[in-house]
Amino acid sequence: MTDDGPAGRVFVTRPLPAAWLAPLRDAGLTVDVHEAEDPLATAELHARVAGAAALWVQLTDRVDAALLDAAGPGLRAVATYSVGTNHIDATACRERGVVVIHTPDVLTDATADLTLALLLAAARRLPEGQRLVASGGWRGWAATQLLGMELRGRTLGVVGLGRIGSAVAARARAFGMRIAYHQRHPRPEAAAPLEADFVDDLDRLLATSDVVTLHLPLTPATRHLLDARRLALLPAHALLINAARGPLVDEGALVAALREGRLAGAGLDVYEEEPRVHPGLLELPNVVLAPHLGSATDTTRRAMAELCSAGILTALAGGRPANALA
Ligand code: GLV
Repeated sequence: MTDDGPAGRVFVTRPLPAAWLAPLRDAGLTVDVHEAEDPLATAELHARVAGAAALWVQLTDRVDAALLDAAGPGLRAVATYSVGTNHIDATACRERGVVVIHTPDVLTDATADLTLALLLAAARRLPEGQRLVASGGWRGWAATQLLGMELRGRTLGVVGLGRIGSAVAARARAFGMRIAYHQRHPRPEAAAPLEADFVDDLDRLLATSDVVTLHLPLTPATRHLLDARRLALLPAHALLINAARGPLVDEGALVAALREGRLAGAGLDVYEEEPRVHPGLLELPNVVLAPHLGSATDTTRRAMAELCSAGILTALAGGRPANALA
């Protein structure tokens, strides 16, 4: 331990490359890693966190009052290896003086890239093309084979023009798309360079978009934001893209809309009950399914780790990390 460095133990809930944890070890902290991808059972988890000064968790770990109490009064920080914090009871953390650290900004480009990959794949019907080629049933070029949606001139409805929503919109502009967006309050400073139109009514945005992409946090208010009624507002030729959080969409209602041809396709990186995927989605032809890969590039994942370790070190030294939740 260094003379004036932070002291204590950091419990890490899943295996991570040793290099990513080195800043914590180099600072003299004890780093205790649960070295398996399978989560610990609650009793064992509570025993492991007892006495920890900080927890390093990921989006599949639930951080609730019981976990915080099991850690005890010495717990100063919870760092999540994600930008989303819906798995963390932020109020319970605040009440116990525990700082919540997350990883905004560094994953914006990677997540926006992945969103465009889903959009392009759905628009150009790549899943159907892949199945056709892989099945051996392709008979060669044909004038009307798998005709998709051309993006130029189409409207992208962005629900949530925050960091990632804006980055997606900027990419879509390069493909000639027109941007419309909805959120609680207009964001003229983000909208101006994108020439994005604010639509104050979500229902109207859905009804007038060719592609809808979701970029908002999961909260009790946004759960099933796209329910059966709202999904029915999208035009039949439209595509739905979700690389934010699965429960924003009623997956059963989405399957029904796709099955009945009331929606042309979907690109999904997230699901209501990960890693379970609604069986209906697996059977549908024009659905692009990714296993929650939004931030999954080497560059981004390293940057996220740096934010977590730096945030923990700052919090344990008594400071306020820049990437702490308000
Ligand atoms: C990924 O979903 C994240 O929140 O970082």
